[in-house]
Amino acid sequence: MNDATHEISEKKRWSKPTLTPHRIGSLNKFGSVSGGHYQDSFEGVPIASLLEEYGSPLFVLSEQRLRNNVRKLLRAFETRYGNVIYSWSYKTNYLAAVCSTLHQEGAWAEVVSAFEYEKARQLGMPAEKILFNGPHKERPILERVVAEGARIHIDHLDELYLLEDVAKAAGKQVDVTMRLNFDTGFTEPWSRFGFNIESGQALDAARILGDSKYLNLCGLHSHLGTFILDPRAYGVQVRIMCAFMDKVEVLTGCTIESIDIGGGFASMNSLQGTYLPPEQVVPSMDQYAETICTALNDATRERDLQGKGRPRLILESGRAVVDDAEILVSSVVANKRMPDGRRSVVIDAGVNLLFTGFWYNHQVTPTRQLEGVPEDTVLYGPLCMNIDIMRASVLLPPLNVSDSIIFSNVGAYNNTQWMQFIEYRPNVVMVHAGNQVSIVRTAEDLHVMTEQESVPAHLCSVEPQQGD
Ligand SMILES: Cc1ncc(COP(=O)(O)O)c(C=O)c1O
Repeated sequence: MNDATHEISEKKRWSKPTLTPHRIGSLNKFGSVSGGHYQDSFEGVPIASLLEEYGSPLFVLSEQRLRNNVRKLLRAFETRYGNVIYSWSYKTNYLAAVCSTLHQEGAWAEVVSAFEYEKARQLGMPAEKILFNGPHKERPILERVVAEGARIHIDHLDELYLLEDVAKAAGKQVDVTMRLNFDTGFTEPWSRFGFNIESGQALDAARILGDSKYLNLCGLHSHLGTFILDPRAYGVQVRIMCAFMDKVEVLTGCTIESIDIGGGFASMNSLQGTYLPPEQVVPSMDQYAETICTALNDATRERDLQGKGRPRLILESGRAVVDDAEILVSSVVANKRMPDGRRSVVIDAGVNLLFTGFWYNHQVTPTRQLEGVPEDTVLYGPLCMNIDIMRASVLLPPLNVSDSIIFSNVGAYNNTQWMQFIEYRPNVVMVHAGNQVSIVRTAEDLHVMTEQESVPAHLCSVEPQQGD
């Protein structure tokens, strides 16, 4: 080969130029063109073999990522503030395998309903490591919780009086936490939960608790909201709660042992409408911890000097711990060209499985190197419903029927908020150390779907009946 031929063979191949109209959400100066990269395995296990064994669509969890995430959270906080408890928010993902993994790492349980409480107990959590939040706790569950000794977070006055009655009937003095709400100036206050500080309602409730023979106020709780991108919100939260703690202790003579700041740390996901990618806007666990622990150390320094001791810090972070520990794999069912020229792809997983698809732009990654020109694509789920859009706009090269794609990060609020709608819910598997895989929730089938139904005798036949 002479030099001239060598030069020619090094030239890039010519490909047909295309014009892609700019659409909001598909590409901007910070946006990356997906399609170049792919992911053919998860935690060392090939996606193809997972699909072959467990079917499509498929949720896949990583045990190791769950463990790493909770360890990272605890390290960030424990190195900055000595007395920290992490409590797993069941509603974020209450699959037993997820809860048990986190409990093995030392997490307590944070529950918000009788069902979640029963589930935590069934998994073996001791009652004293369960925090019971939420606005709906009826007498029978309160009786059980009082008998077993879990910590109740009182949400409103009616609950306070009901609980006092339950405690009186049980002949016990019950330790309780008050849920508070207030304005930090950073987030829209979730004022429907707990007692409001600014209006004086919280102080009134604390006085009632102070006078109660059966309830002993020893904890304060608040949860600012979710996906909070500015750590300073937590700094203000801690300062407000500590000021309230000092006031209430003087006013009622109680001793506050714990300050529970709820959850809300953002996960590595893109909220719809957010311009910048999560890598640029989501604070690290260390950033949250630094702001929170600095505020807490400052606000409680005097207590140390007075020999009162600093309160325990309780964290209930949900999505930041589980979101990136789970993916959803889905397969292509069909390609379609829309009347407006857009490419659309029908896949076998819909918003019935990916509830968070309504407000996140989940990362979509092909499982093989795709060839061809990336094009603005809409991903439709399999439901016969117009709302079933998994991604309204994502840049992808052409996909073939049976190709699979990965949605990430999907660990938070999907395995709890998914809907049984039209389709069976699929298998959920977990990858363990050594690439072992186990099913942690079996796919539904007709038996599962119909076993709770009963048909009155005269409706047992579908044959047309003689008119009466
Ligand atoms: C009381 C409470 N704690 C913790 C959480 C977990 O929140 P996140 O998943 O945003 O961390 C929630 C979620 O709404 C909550 O209501």
